[in-house]
Amino acid sequence: MKKPANSSETSSKGGSLRSILDLIPWVDFESVARVGIFFFIGLVGASIVGWVIFPMVLYSKQPQPINFSHVVHLDSEKVDGVEGETKAEKCLYCHLFYEDGTFGGIPKLESCIECHDDPESPQGESPGEQAFLTDYVAEEKEVPWLVYSKQPDCVYFSHIPHVKMAKLECATCHGKHSETDKLPLYEENRLTGYSRNIWGKRLSGMYFKKEPYDRMKMDDCAECHTKKGRKENNACFVCHK
Ligand code: HEC
Ligand code: HEC
Ligand code: HEC
Ligand code: HEC
Ligand code: HEC
Repeated sequence: MKKPANSSETSSKGGSLRSILDLIPWVDFESVARVGIFFFIGLVGASIVGWVIFPMVLYSKQPQPINFSHVVHLDSEKVDGVEGETKAEKCLYCHLFYEDGTFGGIPKLESCIECHDDPESPQGESPGEQAFLTDYVAEEKEVPWLVYSKQPDCVYFSHIPHVKMAKLECATCHGKHSETDKLPLYEENRLTGYSRNIWGKRLSGMYFKKEPYDRMKMDDCAECHTKKGRKENNACFVCHK
């Protein structure tokens, strides 16, 4: 591209950088700068839409039916009776494995009423417990918990090889959930119907993984299998039976 005729005039005012640039006559630096600014504005705009607005619209948010505090229930000063020497053993008191190796998942009402057996006499004084007693214990109704880590139906995942055989800690995959006092909102992808925790909290997490437990995508499952020398588990039919 040819430079406009008046450009040497501007360059004499523009100082020494400008005269250096004029030594490269075939590039129109003013247009480049102008295009650059518009490109930059476009980039910022697209990023705001892509990283802030799109995720806000993409996910619907729902509160859990009642609050449940892991902090309270793992604190032996407040709750006596969740047995186990270590914290990990305490998890298994509620999240137990049955004899046949299947995982109990979220505890059923029957585990709760070992302590919360009388709707008329609460264990503590919190309004949360009162709601639990009136709405569920008295009605003998299961709490319809929303599962943050719920995988698509086509994915096969079993806890026993991971927890019992590979001896992985719960936190490797679930992060700090057992330190929650107040349950986070459950977020669901409007397009796929999947929990947001599967693809990660941050959209950028789709490309850059920051925390080991930030998400549980297909690649993350496979990455750990490879690291642990379990590449044979990365055939499609192993996870998609
Ligand atoms: C007194 C029973 C109890 C104990 C003890 C307990 N949990 Fe839970 N856990 C629950 C209940 C009830 C829920 C459902 C509400 C929620 O999401 O927190 C739950 C949910 C979870 C979830 C969420 C699963 C999902 O994806 O939605 C994880 C992860 C979890 N527990 C891990 C742990 C770990 C790790 C420990 C031990 C450090 C532990 N729990 C100890 C009762 C318990
Ligand atoms: C080993 C006894 C025990 C078991 C089992 C138990 N709880 Fe509790 N829970 C307590 C005690 C004691 C308190 C009162 C603690 C306080 O307020 O100091 C409590 C408090 C609560 C509260 C109010 C505080 C909070 O977590 O937000 C809720 C709700 C609750 N329990 C629900 C449950 C549910 C649901 C289950 C079954 C998954 C369950 N509990 C199992 C003993 C137990
Ligand atoms: C290797 C990763 C991994 C480890 C380690 C792990 N989990 Fe999970 N957990 C998952 C995945 C993935 C799901 C979702 C499974 C599905 O939807 O089929 C899940 C689901 C759950 C659920 C909800 C299950 C339901 O359907 O109700 C609970 C509760 C839970 N895990 C607790 C635990 C506890 C407690 C431990 C430690 C004893 C643990 N997990 C260890 C990956 C893991
Ligand atoms: C942090 C490491 C880790 C992560 C993350 C992980 N796995 Fe695994 N997985 C293992 C190891 C180790 C084994 C081998 C356990 C053994 O048999 O000793 C295994 C075994 C398996 C098996 C074969 C055992 C069986 O049940 O038939 C399946 C299937 C599997 N994993 C699915 C998954 C899926 C799906 C995910 C993601 C949602 C996942 N894994 C995430 C470490 C991991
Ligand atoms: C180690 C376990 C694992 C293996 C091996 C695996 N997948 Fe997956 N796959 C998953 C998990 C977990 C998801 C859900 C999370 C996601 O979308 O990343 C998934 C999701 C998918 C989906 C999207 C399903 C939906 O409903 O959105 C397709 C399609 C798929 N896998 C195909 C394959 C094919 C083809 C292979 C073999 C090349 C394969 N997978 C191997 C774990 C696995």
